[in-house]
Amino acid sequence: MLISLRDICAIAEQNSMAIAAFNTPSLEAVRAALDAAEQTGYPVILAHAEGHEHAAPLKYIGPAMVALAEQSSAMVCVHLDHCEHLSYLRRALDMGFTGAMFDGSYMPYEVNVENSARAAEICAPFGAGLECELGSMGSREAGYRDEGGTAEESGAVYTDPDQAEDFIRCTGLDILACSFGTVHGIYKGEPHLNLDVLRDIRSRIKLPLVMHGGSGVSDEDYRKSIDAGIRKINYYTYGVKFAGEAVCNLIADRRRDRKDALVYWHDMTPVAYERMLEDFTQVIKVFANGANPVA
Ligand code: 13P
Repeated sequence: MLISLRDICAIAEQNSMAIAAFNTPSLEAVRAALDAAEQTGYPVILAHAEGHEHAAPLKYIGPAMVALAEQSSAMVCVHLDHCEHLSYLRRALDMGFTGAMFDGSYMPYEVNVENSARAAEICAPFGAGLECELGSMGSREAGYRDEGGTAEESGAVYTDPDQAEDFIRCTGLDILACSFGTVHGIYKGEPHLNLDVLRDIRSRIKLPLVMHGGSGVSDEDYRKSIDAGIRKINYYTYGVKFAGEAVCNLIADRRRDRKDALVYWHDMTPVAYERMLEDFTQVIKVFANGANPVA
C-alpha cells in the first residue's frame, strides 16, 4: 500500500521507531526492501537518489517503484532522495512519488532556503511530504561508493540548531535531515555521533529528524539516535557492498575448478537479492527499536 512520507513518519513518531529508507537503484533492491517489510510487518521507504540516475534512470525505476509499492501488503512510501533540481523533483511527483528530499545543503544558506521553499510549493498540490537538509555531511550521495571516511575528514558541518528553527519557519518542510557525525559511503573509522546536536534540534523543533549515511553505524548508535528523535534512517552503501561480495563469492565458487566457467547475469541477480533481503530484514528490526510490527 502506497502511503505518504508524512503518514509513514507519523507511524514512526507514534511508535518511537525509525523507518528504513533503502536506496533502490535496481529491481533486486526494490524486491528485497518490499519483501523485508512484508516479512517483518514494518513500513518501509523506497528511495531513489538523483545521483543514481546513471544506474537506474528515473523513467524506468520510478514507475516500477510506485506500482510495486501499491501492490505491496506493507505500508510503503516512495521517496526521492538528494534531489538537486526542482524539475527532477516535479517529474518524480508526476509519477506518483509520495515524498521528496530537496538537497540544498551545499548551497549558501539563503539559496538553500529559497530553493527548499520552492520545493515545498511544488510538493503541496501532490500532498507529498518534503525533506530538506541543513548542515553538510561532507561526502555527497552521488552514487560513488568510495566516499566516506569520518565526518571530520569529509569536511562535515554539523546542523546548527538556531539555524534549524529559522530554516523550518522559512521553508515549511516536513522532516529535517541533520548532520551530526554520519557520512555517506564506507566508514574508514568508527563514526562518532554528536547526539547533543540532535537533542538540541529536537527540543526546539518537534519534527521528525533524518539520519543520512545510515549504513555502517552500530546498533547501539542507531538506538541512541532514535531515542534522540531520528525517525527515518537512510541506508544504502553497506547493503550493496554485501550484495557485491555475495556475487564475487558466487563467481569465485563457480571458477574454482574451471577458470573459464560461465556465470550468467541471471545467476547473479538472485544472489544479490537474497543477500540484501537478509541485511534489510535485520536492519528494519533494529530500527523498530522494540516497537511491535505495525502493518
Ligand atoms: P549510506 O551511504 O551510509 O548507506 O547512506 C545512504 C544515504 O544516506 C542516502 O541518502
